[in-house]
Amino acid sequence: MDEAIATVSARLRNASRITILTGAGVSAASGVPTFRGADGLWREYRPEELATPEAFVRDPQLVWEWYAWRREKIAGCQPNAAHDVIAAWSRERGARVLTQNVDDLHLRAGTEGLVRMHGSIWEISCWNECRGLAPWRDARVPLPELPVRCPHCHGLARPAVVWFGEALRDEDVLAAVEATACDVFLTVGTSAVVYPAAGLVQRAKAQGAFTAEINLEPTPASSAVDVAIHGPAEDILPALGGRW
Ligand code: OAD
Repeated sequence: MDEAIATVSARLRNASRITILTGAGVSAASGVPTFRGADGLWREYRPEELATPEAFVRDPQLVWEWYAWRREKIAGCQPNAAHDVIAAWSRERGARVLTQNVDDLHLRAGTEGLVRMHGSIWEISCWNECRGLAPWRDARVPLPELPVRCPHCHGLARPAVVWFGEALRDEDVLAAVEATACDVFLTVGTSAVVYPAAGLVQRAKAQGAFTAEINLEPTPASSAVDVAIHGPAEDILPALGGRW
């Protein structure tokens, strides 16, 4: 483990272009439930059964109740050491940060140029797109009414997050793909099963980047990266930065 940390740390030290892809594991130490961990379960539902347009059409109340539960949990959470290190790298080293997390803890830690590939749980948009796709911010906890209504057309509103079966925003895909042209690509705290995010590490590697994974356990990305470090992001990331 120490050797792996030293290797990745040296690569980071010498890199001019660093890209970091993060997933729910980065926020786990803050108390945010991951999607595929046991704590991610809400009632008897798996995220894949709720985070879809079909689920929303079938039962908007149920989907909103799940998001209201997640918002309530996240509202009480603070960024942890992993968010802090990543934020410092974005400011001091120009590291590009791509996140699948919708909790905004990277932003609260002061990350610059963050690409929120799956949107933000604190933003809402009109289901009927009555004024286009532009979301609005609503961080009220609890929300006064479920399901949430669009203030313009009074039809249904939805969380402004990307659901399974939906396309990511073009500008986010573009930014993410551009960021794979880098010297070091870190994939941190993600199960690496949801595309297109999961494919970015291979793309970076194909372009010559040194790639590393930081995760509590092996994932499908582990065999693809140059170095896999298995441990908590909130401990490993400070250890990496501490050697610069
Ligand atoms: P997952 O819940 O699938 O995976 C979290 C990963 O973090 C797992 O591989 C854990 O082993 C790891 N992990 C947990 N605690 C950790 C810690 N302290 N340090 C390091 N690693 C830790 O979450 P994501 O990979 O983010 O998408 O999920 C990807 C997407 O699937 C989400 O953005 C969401 C979800 O459904 C949508 O909603 C579209």
